[in-house]
Amino acid sequence: MAYDPEIYAAAVKTLAARRAAAEQDAALLRERACAQFPRLKEIDAALAATGTHIAHAILEGGNIDAAIARIQAENECLQAEMAELLQKGGFGVRNFAPLYTCPLCDDTGYHGGNMCTCLSKLLKEQAAARVCKGLSSDPKRFSDLSLSFYDDTPPAERALSPRERMRRIFAYCEQYAAAFSTHAPSLLLRGATGTGKTHVSLAIAGTVAENGFSVVYQPAGRLFGLLEEEHFGRRSGNTLETVLSCDLLVIDDLGTEFETSFVAATLYTIINTRMLDGLPTVISTNLTQEGLQSRYGDQTVSRITGAFEPLLFVGKDIRQQKRTAAMRS
Ligand SMILES: Nc1ncnc2c1ncn2[C@@H]1O[C@H](COP(=O)(O)OP(=O)(O)O)[C@@H](O)[C@H]1O
Ligand SMILES: [Mg+2]
Ligand SMILES: [Zn+2]
Repeated sequence: MAYDPEIYAAAVKTLAARRAAAEQDAALLRERACAQFPRLKEIDAALAATGTHIAHAILEGGNIDAAIARIQAENECLQAEMAELLQKGGFGVRNFAPLYTCPLCDDTGYHGGNMCTCLSKLLKEQAAARVCKGLSSDPKRFSDLSLSFYDDTPPAERALSPRERMRRIFAYCEQYAAAFSTHAPSLLLRGATGTGKTHVSLAIAGTVAENGFSVVYQPAGRLFGLLEEEHFGRRSGNTLETVLSCDLLVIDDLGTEFETSFVAATLYTIINTRMLDGLPTVISTNLTQEGLQSRYGDQTVSRITGAFEPLLFVGKDIRQQKRTAAMRS
């Protein structure tokens, strides 16, 4: 996957900072430990000279194997002595090697000639953060959701009250976000304006991102606007690749974007590709099933109906309820 140079630069900078911090910690530890046990300084110097000793043994000729075996045995003794002293001092390590964040690549981003998983994770996170950047939404949390805005009288006998229905939806979404994995199902949040869909979408996106997954959250209008500008070369970027490959994609307010053939085709590509790759998507919309069908066509909508968990948000416009309550007080 080809990311923007800016994204690479940011990820590489993060790795360099991790490496520098680990090396600084190691140097500090060496200093403190050697001050406490001066013998450690001698051991450290002797261990550092191992390579030179081996080179000498080879140059001198004679029984090279025996000489190298002797040097290695000495080396092991020194390492054991070092570990013992460090343990005695309560330093919690066996030697002065830096403790890198990623033991696979020592925070270089590459191992065995391939990109390390830690670097690809950083790139994904950077890319997702960049797509989200510029959204003026304050964080919305599950804990801010109240059930008091939803009526608790069932609309009919043996039907759920709006409050009970929403209680179940909130519980389901909170659990979904907390236990998110890339095998999680896709969700379709449907319902009228002001029933909490955006709030819940953001709460899901926030929790999943906090758990270390790469998340892209975008209102449909902004998302398709960006994709269109990049597609027609009016703007540079890899939004489509990010949107196709992020762990979780959240498209909020589907149906509020301009209705164009580009949007319909791109939505199909996004839904179909992510589905084939087994990646979950969360979509919120005010549109009904018929509304979705007439806007995006049968092919796209049958993908959504076939694979998305439908959650129907009910109740009266909460923004309006809050406004009325504020006017009364
Ligand atoms: N259950 C809730 N408790 C408290 N505030 C809520 C609740 N649901 C929504 N809100 C708030 O009401 C406003 C409208 O909700 P929003 O999620 O934007 O609705 P929708 O996306 O369905 O139109 C937002 O400010 C949101 O934070
Ligand atoms: Mg909304
Ligand atoms: Zn790594």
